[in-house]
Amino acid sequence: MAQNENSLVDKFGRTVDYVRLSVTDRCDFRCVYCMTEDMTFLPRKQILSLEEIYQIALAFTELGVKKIRLTGGEPMVRSDVMSLIGKLGSLPGLEELLLTTNGAQLDKYALPLKEAGLSRINISIDSLDAERFRRISRVGKLEKVLAGIDAAREAGFDRIKLNSVIMRGYNEDEVIPLTDYALSRDIDIAFIEEMPLGEASDHSREETTCSNEWVRGQIEQKYRLINSTAKTAGPSRYVQVVGKKSRIGFISPVSHNFCEDCNRVRVTVEGRLLLCLGNEHSVDLREVLRDGASTHDDLKEAIIKSMDLKPERHYFYDKEHAQPVRLMNMTGG
Ligand code: GTP
Ligand code: 5AD
Ligand code: SF4
Repeated sequence: MAQNENSLVDKFGRTVDYVRLSVTDRCDFRCVYCMTEDMTFLPRKQILSLEEIYQIALAFTELGVKKIRLTGGEPMVRSDVMSLIGKLGSLPGLEELLLTTNGAQLDKYALPLKEAGLSRINISIDSLDAERFRRISRVGKLEKVLAGIDAAREAGFDRIKLNSVIMRGYNEDEVIPLTDYALSRDIDIAFIEEMPLGEASDHSREETTCSNEWVRGQIEQKYRLINSTAKTAGPSRYVQVVGKKSRIGFISPVSHNFCEDCNRVRVTVEGRLLLCLGNEHSVDLREVLRDGASTHDDLKEAIIKSMDLKPERHYFYDKEHAQPVRLMNMTGG
């Protein structure tokens, strides 16, 4: 597919205008669906410096990217991430700078994040019961996350979104409490089907995965839902609850394939440009950045060329296809 100088288009005609940048593989939680209990993390010299991350972000915005989401691991555990956010916030052409976080440090950082230019925030929360919350996150404290959500609201963030992975045997009875919690605070919530990204160490994913059809059925026992006409580019399908401001999203990578609308790529904290969450196709941008002979234009050229590698779709649970071995913290949300 011919590339316009200012846009990234793949072989299937999909325009990529959204990049998810991972700033760390580390996290202060160890969620059972994301990590194993005894993780080893990357040594410092293998990970991109904040300046290298900035160079990558700059190159992408020069190629037409309008939306950048910072992911991890947990982005807020990287020291100095605030200075990166400040710099990214003033990138020409960038319309939205977003963050996906576990919320544990938002009580301290929500306001500075807003002041640094962050547009919106997604916060993961899988349980409203402190014991349960700890079981799922292995180490997290629920009250810190709840305080973080309050702080994000007080800081004036618009359209705060909660993310909940619903798993049988862990939290399938919390669909209604989590929904009530979001509705009562006028914030959005998305229910996510657990994806087979790497091997989970505490459970068999095939046994825990709850389909979003089931989750929606639970919510419909209490609320009347109307399909939202707003179609966002991306995996979430939103519904509205009659009489409420919140939107409820369903991210259903396992039960529904939404890849034909895919508008995004990811960069891992090692500088691997991953063309799809569920496949290994990638380009090593760190090599380009650290090759003394390469220029900023070479970096852009590598990104443009990578578009031809973007696969058509993922094949989660399809026995005919190899499954991803990367855990989510290595991939970046
Ligand atoms: P937007 O950036 O507004 O589209 O929000 P989002 O819901 O995609 O972002 P968030 O970081 O909150 O992600 C929520 C969940 O959606 C995470 O579990 C992501 O891994 C998953 N997700 C995001 N993008 C993709 C994708 O391209 N493919 C798949 N399979 N899942 C995705
Ligand atoms: N399947 C689905 N969602 C996952 N997340 C992490 N690992 C998985 C997985 N295997 C989600 C978290 C968080 C976001 C960054 O990714 O819940 O909301
Ligand atoms: Fe940390 Fe998020 Fe992974 Fe949980 S899902 S271990 S909070 S990166």
